[in-house]
Amino acid sequence: MRIAKHAVVLGLVIGMTGALAQSKAPELQAMPETKPGNAAMIELGRHFYFDNRISGDWGVSCASCHDPEKGWADGQALSAGYPSMEYFRNAPTVINARHRIRFMWDGRLDGADAGTLVRDMITETHTMNMDSRLMQERLKQVPEYNALWKKWRNDDINGMRVFNVIGEFIRSLETTNAPFDKFVKGDAAAISAEAKAGYEVFKGKANCVSCHNGPIGSDGKLYKTGVPEHPDVLKNPLRTITMLRHYATSGMPNYMNARTDVGSYAITKDKRDIGKFQTAQLRDLKYTAPYMHNGMFATLDQVVDFYDKGGGEGAVLQPLNLTATEKKALVAFLLTLSGDKVTMKVPDQPDMQPRVYGKN
Ligand code: HEC
Ligand code: HEC
Repeated sequence: MRIAKHAVVLGLVIGMTGALAQSKAPELQAMPETKPGNAAMIELGRHFYFDNRISGDWGVSCASCHDPEKGWADGQALSAGYPSMEYFRNAPTVINARHRIRFMWDGRLDGADAGTLVRDMITETHTMNMDSRLMQERLKQVPEYNALWKKWRNDDINGMRVFNVIGEFIRSLETTNAPFDKFVKGDAAAISAEAKAGYEVFKGKANCVSCHNGPIGSDGKLYKTGVPEHPDVLKNPLRTITMLRHYATSGMPNYMNARTDVGSYAITKDKRDIGKFQTAQLRDLKYTAPYMHNGMFATLDQVVDFYDKGGGEGAVLQPLNLTATEKKALVAFLLTLSGDKVTMKVPDQPDMQPRVYGKN
């Protein structure tokens, strides 16, 4: 009897803390301190990331679409995709991959599993079109890579581990030194008075924070904001083809009728998800224009104007009636979330040599 009473009280306490955690208002946070990853894996991953031997036709590397010089994206509205194709969505930055709750514009992959994301990028027809066994054999013919691998572990280069190694590398790329982070940690002078006013608009009148929260400014959820379709997706048959093929692969019903990007509906097949995309992160926007899943907005001013009007057709948003001063302040604030430019020396691609049986 006494035990049962105790259990009821405990249950109540747990229930209450749960409710408290839920009622806590969402907020934007500083980048968390993270433990450095495995150094040997990161070094290998850096080489593989820049090596175009991991694509089917030897033509593209990860950096072709996620280029350090272009904010680890490609600067295009819509991605070129694999040679001879053209993709129907924008290539996002790989910065802060470690902090993504979900990956991809339609949120189809788990952010905790960078290895699977890398496997998809490499083996997917639209991006690198590579067979993972062929990739493994190519990499094994590079003596420098075998030597680097041996610093990590004592077996041979193999496919799934290559995916994890590149995953570990992208997880090491993070926003650092952003003025906003210094500001929330107590340095009041780290951002301008205008940016501070913008932060108030962000949290208050515009309520951007309801979706853009956490350390990278994304709740990892899916919403319909009604960004208009990029005209080239409908006019350029090559882009229509990659879109329809993506839907066919996902098993979307009646996919041949689709004439616009349906977002997460192709994955969930729930009609309520038509036109929903994942909340984009707000870090490093300074380097990653154009914006949105199809790069429809070239500038942050255009993005803010779009939200001010209550988004596009069918959006869950309301018009904001921001003044010109508030809009400008909001843009100034958004830019404080960008850190130092993450640059990197591109490694040389070492030559191949036939393996000697039993020797390497
Ligand atoms: C041909 C261009 C291309 C290549 C090559 C490419 N990607 Fe991508 N990447 C994209 C596009 C386009 C998307 C978005 C796809 C979507 O949402 O449908 C994407 C998405 C991503 C994402 C998800 C980011 C997010 O915030 O959701 C990561 C991480 C990523 N790629 C890493 C890589 C890595 C690592 C490689 C090399 C193994 C690679 N990509 C190769 C074009 C490319
Ligand atoms: C209801 C949730 C929600 C609200 C509120 C919201 N956003 Fe977004 N935001 C999203 C989604 C979803 C996307 C991706 C849409 C797409 O690509 O079609 C996005 C994309 C963006 C992007 C593009 C980033 C990139 O890299 O492409 C920016 C910038 C942005 N939002 C800023 C804001 C600002 C500023 C506000 C407040 C005025 C705001 N958002 C309010 C959900 C929201």
